[in-house]
Amino acid sequence: MIYISELKEYEGKEIDLKGWVINSRSSKGIEFLVLRDGTGFLQCVVDEQTAGQEAYETACKLTQESSVEMSGKVVKDDRQIGGYELQVTKLKILHLNNDNYPISNKSHGVEFLMNNRHLWLRSKRQWAIMRVRNNIIYAIHNFFQKQGFVQMDAPIFTGNAVEGTTTLFATEFYDRPAYLTQSGQLYGEAMAMAMGRIYTFGPTFRAEKSKTRRHLSEFWMIEPEMAFFDNEMNMDLIENFIKSVVDEVMQKSKYELEILERNTEILKTVVSDRFPRITYDEAVDILHGKKPVNGITSIELLEKDKMELEEKINQIKIEIEERENLIADTNLKQSKRNFIINKLDVLKNDLKDLEEKLSHIPEYLKSAKEFRYGDDFGGADETVLTRMFSLPIMVFNWPKEVKAFYMKRDEKNDNLVKGVDVLAPEGFGEIVGGSQRETDLDVLIQRIKEHNLPMEVFSWYLDLRKFGSVPHSGFGLGLERFVSWITNTKHIRETIPFPRMYGRLNP
Ligand code: 4AD
Ligand code: MG
Repeated sequence: MIYISELKEYEGKEIDLKGWVINSRSSKGIEFLVLRDGTGFLQCVVDEQTAGQEAYETACKLTQESSVEMSGKVVKDDRQIGGYELQVTKLKILHLNNDNYPISNKSHGVEFLMNNRHLWLRSKRQWAIMRVRNNIIYAIHNFFQKQGFVQMDAPIFTGNAVEGTTTLFATEFYDRPAYLTQSGQLYGEAMAMAMGRIYTFGPTFRAEKSKTRRHLSEFWMIEPEMAFFDNEMNMDLIENFIKSVVDEVMQKSKYELEILERNTEILKTVVSDRFPRITYDEAVDILHGKKPVNGITSIELLEKDKMELEEKINQIKIEIEERENLIADTNLKQSKRNFIINKLDVLKNDLKDLEEKLSHIPEYLKSAKEFRYGDDFGGADETVLTRMFSLPIMVFNWPKEVKAFYMKRDEKNDNLVKGVDVLAPEGFGEIVGGSQRETDLDVLIQRIKEHNLPMEVFSWYLDLRKFGSVPHSGFGLGLERFVSWITNTKHIRETIPFPRMYGRLNP
């Protein structure tokens, strides 16, 4: 059996293929089928003259998502998706769908699609996202393995919180209370003292009782941990890591990124240009409009965005009105009318998007102007900050109150910790959180107390500071947030095969 992705090796040859029919149309004794086989898409032509009457009649019966087996000749045709066409000589039905397949070409609501996630995964966009996800995972392993990091699996049942107690999923472990892990980091630190450099790659759980486009209850995290690394080295590694993965994925996922209409120019600069590194204090000044970036302040840029959006909206409204006047003419030819109606649909969708964008600007302006020094950045603040740059930015030196207990305090300022967040551009926000770890036993005990965490469950963790304690650092990359950004998918729920989030446990 041959797969669609391998067709270029079989040009002019007879091959056998298996797959599912996603589309069909007929024209004078010829049936055109679009087939997908999991590796790609292919137009297959069943001509009554060459394939015979039986094959042709079989082809005419095929319904959306019926499965088939066929033979035919591979012909180069640049106009077709994938660049090839199959001239079918034999056709056999494996399973003919009698029920209407629920997902048609017309647009469906997201709730409906999410309820049919098990089928939605077959749709082209979802197919492309999942394949990019796969290539990202591969590129991540590649990056760390090439450099000699050891992959470790951290436990999922745990007795302690890592990232605050408010997002813990409680469960039971042989009659004892237990939690699903929020992060493998603490175990990663122990393993780094055994291996030098490690990374975890596993599921993590956070009870986030709100529906946002950035939060899942179950997500996959990559957590490297490096002995003898300070936060500067940590930031260098994060930057190299992101560049390397983006570069590899751009090469391997060209076709998928094209389907997703991803602007790859932005991704290219991610690979080539140095990421801006700013302190938390500088970030706050940027938000408040006190510190310009490339000659413009955040407030000025938002006001400019607002004016530009208003102008575009006015233009589109004029275009819509003009076209509506055109179709009011009863003498208009039907084909011309259909053309204008389609164009109107597109314009109205654009208008909705622009109006939605415009509606957020007042809230961005307000949260930027009123941001309180010492707070964590919310979604709106992250959007404003990343709007100022076209690259991912690294924000470091955070107030200790908003960060986890394990982060190393800054020797120069006891209120700050050596943490770093990476914020992705284009409105995607935080994708990485990391830090240098506190290695001073007394300070760490003090922090555990300040955070009201139970000392007993951390006794093993404190041992790491008693025996051969060394400076060390690490970070966590949220896989689904990263996939969202690379594939330009606004909502995180489409970046994992079966999302688990507030209000969704099925399918
Ligand atoms: O910033 P966080 O909470 O950091 C940690 O968990 C550290 N222990 C990592 C480390 O230093 N080893 O989470 C890290 C990343 C975030 O930047 C985000 O990308 C992702 O995990 N993340 C989520 N992704 C989806 N849904 C959620 N609810 C997420 N919470 C965090
Ligand atoms: Mg974080």
